[in-house]
Amino acid sequence: MTSFDVVDLIRAKRDGAQLTEEQIDWLIRAYTDGIVADEQMSSMAMALFFRGLDDRELSTWTNAMINTGERLDFSGLSRPTADKHSTGGVGDKITLPLAPLVAACGVAVPQLSGRGLGHTGGTLDKLEAIPGWRANLTNQQMLDQLEDVGAVICAAGSGLAPADKKLYALRDVTGTVESIPLIASSIMSKKIAEGTGALVLDVKVGSGAFMKTHEDAAELARRMVALGKAAGVKTTALLTRMDTPLGLTAGNGLEVAESVEVLAGGGPADIIELTLALAREMVTAAGVDVDPADKLADGSAMDHWRRMVAAQGGDPDAPLPTAKHVEVVTAGADGVLASLDAMAVGIAAWRLGAGRARKEDPVQAAAGVVLRAKPGDRVRAGEPLFELHTDTEAAVPRAVEALQGGWTISATAPVTAPLVIEKVS
Ligand code: URA
Repeated sequence: MTSFDVVDLIRAKRDGAQLTEEQIDWLIRAYTDGIVADEQMSSMAMALFFRGLDDRELSTWTNAMINTGERLDFSGLSRPTADKHSTGGVGDKITLPLAPLVAACGVAVPQLSGRGLGHTGGTLDKLEAIPGWRANLTNQQMLDQLEDVGAVICAAGSGLAPADKKLYALRDVTGTVESIPLIASSIMSKKIAEGTGALVLDVKVGSGAFMKTHEDAAELARRMVALGKAAGVKTTALLTRMDTPLGLTAGNGLEVAESVEVLAGGGPADIIELTLALAREMVTAAGVDVDPADKLADGSAMDHWRRMVAAQGGDPDAPLPTAKHVEVVTAGADGVLASLDAMAVGIAAWRLGAGRARKEDPVQAAAGVVLRAKPGDRVRAGEPLFELHTDTEAAVPRAVEALQGGWTISATAPVTAPLVIEKVS
């Protein structure tokens, strides 16, 4: 492979030039191998943040990241595969009911997930609230579970796109996470390497999301869909609202309990709506003609959940951990809850112990926020608006502080925007 002077490449991108295929291939390989130093790659990430990558560069960048690691192969399975990825939101526990629901429709769901950092929780952190459940499986165990149960949610092994692992950690500490091409290549390199046949992207828009505007979210969706299709993965994206938390809970064990309610036929309307919308996209993309609503109603999604949890050592009947302290925050006036900011709730849950500030930090299984009202609900002065759950009582004042200014109560009901805004395919 031709080698380059990384400082020349940084200068070229800084000044708005396009990088060639050879330059990008070399850069990603050299960074993964430790030839390009972290400080040089952080400078490149910042240049990219401002200058972007055009479609050709983005496709080369993504392929170069895929080529640093292994690719999984699900072609030996007896059913088609479909996966979903969410760009992350507060209270976004949709993967939990979705994976067993889609499996119940006859589509295998290989959901390789991560742990949370910052104000959005990680799927693995949520499932680890279930006593005995383990996230780490070998590739063979994952394949066996996909064949037997049809759904697996497990830790993405270090073999998939190792360049992304290194680069994402660097972006996290250099203010370069929120770049559309860097997010698109990061997500899609892992999903393409994972080998799913179909992929549905849930691209969040709003105050609690990476993408605050419709325009940016649509651009991120368009670029990810193009990368997926070019790699032969049937890819679609739904743009969905993330101004207010999804469901009534934010926090690991609390979100598992809410997911189980949905699988049992109850649960909040927004969780049911989004789970079914994403399930329909996945099932259709996989070429299967089954209505997921039937599989939710007849209990087979719940049956698949129980088998999925048990296959990974979890006890689906074990009580979930409960917090040592629960503090209630009440409404200050009568009226209608007009808005409730997702970010404020996410930060409060994080401060209560549901999330981590550094990737080595432990999380509390029972910590988080329970919403006692959602936008549009009538509230009365002195009645509960939130429950704050934590094992660390000293964390409560900072969580309350995060919520201050995060909601409004008004005389009239807010105009409700649809949860699913647009489909990009
Ligand atoms: N999730 C990822 O995997 N990568 C990003 O860059 C952002 C969110």
